[in-house]
Amino acid sequence: MSRIAVVPGSFDPITLGHLDVIERAAGIFDELHVLVVHNPDKAALLPIAQRVSLIQEAIAEAGFGDNILVTSWSVGLLVDYCRDVGATVLVKGIRSQVDVAYETPMAIVNRDLGGVETVFLLPSPAHSHVSSSLVRQVSALGGDVTPYVPPVVARFLQVPGDVE
Ligand code: PNS
Repeated sequence: MSRIAVVPGSFDPITLGHLDVIERAAGIFDELHVLVVHNPDKAALLPIAQRVSLIQEAIAEAGFGDNILVTSWSVGLLVDYCRDVGATVLVKGIRSQVDVAYETPMAIVNRDLGGVETVFLLPSPAHSHVSSSLVRQVSALGGDVTPYVPPVVARFLQVPGDVE
């Protein structure tokens, strides 16, 4: 039986930390779905469709394998998506104890609601300080985000409309 896992998140925009976790997870599971989900607790920078495009471009640019699907979800619980596609595992990146505290209740709720287990992966320490919110702030103030995001995202933030 092939094992399908989902990496959910806001990805607003995708960072090098996200890309690191996606690469590691794609090496573990047969099929990996990168799922862009609107998080109402966060002020959005990019439309959902734009985030999906940037992730697809970043994955292509990085030359990852062909077991990764990128899509979005907006009509219910994360575990509903998992059930619909036959996914049994969620994958989350953990940078610090702060992330553990943020992710633990969600992992328990997702297991309670849908029987879906959460696997925590550690990105490279080189990316442990990187977050989408930091990227949004640096970009909004005209700073260089190149060290924190895939090249396609850096190009897009410098010249919006460059990537469809
Ligand atoms: O990148 P983020 O913003 O930390 O991702 C949070 C996200 C989107 C994974 C979380 O908000 C989520 O799972 N939303 C889906 C709605 C849902 O199923 N909620 C109940 C379980 S937490």
